[in-house]
Amino acid sequence: MSEIRNIDLWESGARKIEWVRRNMCLLRSIEEDFKRDKPFSGLKVALSIHLEAKTAYLCKVLATGGAEMYVTGSNPLSTQDDVAAALAHDGLNVYAWHASTPEEYHRHISEVIKAGPNVIIDDGGDLVNMIHNEYPELIPNVIGGCEETTTGIIRLIAMNKAGELKFPMALVNNARCKYLFDNRYGTGQSVWDGINRTTNLIVAGKNVVVAGYGWCGKGVAMRAKGLGASVIVTEIDPIKAMEAVMDGFKVMKMEEAAKIGDIFVTVTGCKDVITENSFANMKDGAILCNAGHFDCEVAVAKLAEICTEKYPARNNIDGYRMSDGRSIFVIGEGRLVNLTAGDGHPAEIMDMSFAIQALTAAYLVKNRDKLTDKIITVPEEIDNEVACRKLKFWGIEIDKLSEEQEKYLNSWQV
Ligand SMILES: NC(=O)c1ccc[n+]([C@@H]2O[C@H](COP(=O)([O-])OP(=O)(O)OC[C@H]3O[C@@H](n4cnc5c(N)ncnc54)[C@H](O)[C@@H]3O)[C@@H](O)[C@H]2O)c1
Repeated sequence: MSEIRNIDLWESGARKIEWVRRNMCLLRSIEEDFKRDKPFSGLKVALSIHLEAKTAYLCKVLATGGAEMYVTGSNPLSTQDDVAAALAHDGLNVYAWHASTPEEYHRHISEVIKAGPNVIIDDGGDLVNMIHNEYPELIPNVIGGCEETTTGIIRLIAMNKAGELKFPMALVNNARCKYLFDNRYGTGQSVWDGINRTTNLIVAGKNVVVAGYGWCGKGVAMRAKGLGASVIVTEIDPIKAMEAVMDGFKVMKMEEAAKIGDIFVTVTGCKDVITENSFANMKDGAILCNAGHFDCEVAVAKLAEICTEKYPARNNIDGYRMSDGRSIFVIGEGRLVNLTAGDGHPAEIMDMSFAIQALTAAYLVKNRDKLTDKIITVPEEIDNEVACRKLKFWGIEIDKLSEEQEKYLNSWQV
């Protein structure tokens, strides 16, 4: 069973999946292992991740591993209908379409939960939240799950602290092979890909304001600098702010940055980062977008309320005319710009993130009787395995500690 826009789109989706498959060497090798070992044999896997080609290939790899797949998206605007069609054409159960209403988005997640999954792969925590709040009777079926992103992990840790998390969840984002590459280099490149292809404007010479200097913000700022922008960082953490200064960026409060920024990117995981005060001071033509998980970083609803007119300025860009004649522009409704205005992270990056997802899901199943904690750290062996396999594919060899060196590094007496 599937609920998608149009099955006839499947060939275009299949080509996109084949393209990323060629560039996802780790997942290809894991697919071979899974074909042999069938770690998910007899199990249902529910997955809620931005449904584009890389995610679709992960779904196919899990299916090769024996999983009965139930797939949905994790954002109303990030599903690609041709990719959803290709997966449905291959016989996977897909419930997702582009530009879903809040009701449709909710229904699609409910459908994958109603299948009674044994393993959950989530991105942002909506699936995990919904099963706890609306389908508690299905919780006993769940062996465990994996969470992809920083925001989802914040929600899981809060849930666990309140004693409300009822099954083990692995923190995939916190694996080194995830955040060091996906959040920094993946977001860094794909955010600019989304902005550039949507605006068709030059970045060089502009003032770019990056809100949040975490792993994603570092990547976005680094690539903005590379494109020739003057980069301004806003932060709430004094140490991150210092780091931004030492990396060569100007740091100031958002209310000051608002006056001089040409392009704004929020990537904090927080809410109301750009609000009414800032809108009042922005230049005519300021462009706003968000790369954080939820669409609450730029107060788009407030902007709509205080403007005199909202108008389509370009495909995927809304213009908001203010009473003094200025226009402020928002890309992709303030939702993840790299996914709503682009194709998300590069394939080679998601190769690492999804390799960790696949191996950690198999680890949870294999160790189901030994998992006592609800919050699971991705085992270091999986992190190292992913790095070793990737280096091998790149043809790079590294040094190995000798016995003597190992002894030296582990001793306190020289
Ligand atoms: N677009 C993508 O593809 C993508 C990829 C990975 C993560 N994410 C999402 O991006 C967000 C950030 O992730 P991260 O891994 O960089 O997190 P992080 O915790 O490493 O960094 C967030 C930073 O934002 C700062 N911050 C918090 N509130 C702020 C505020 N009001 N003003 C200014 N700075 C503030 C924090 O001090 C921190 O330094 C999360 O929502 C995450 O889920 C998006």
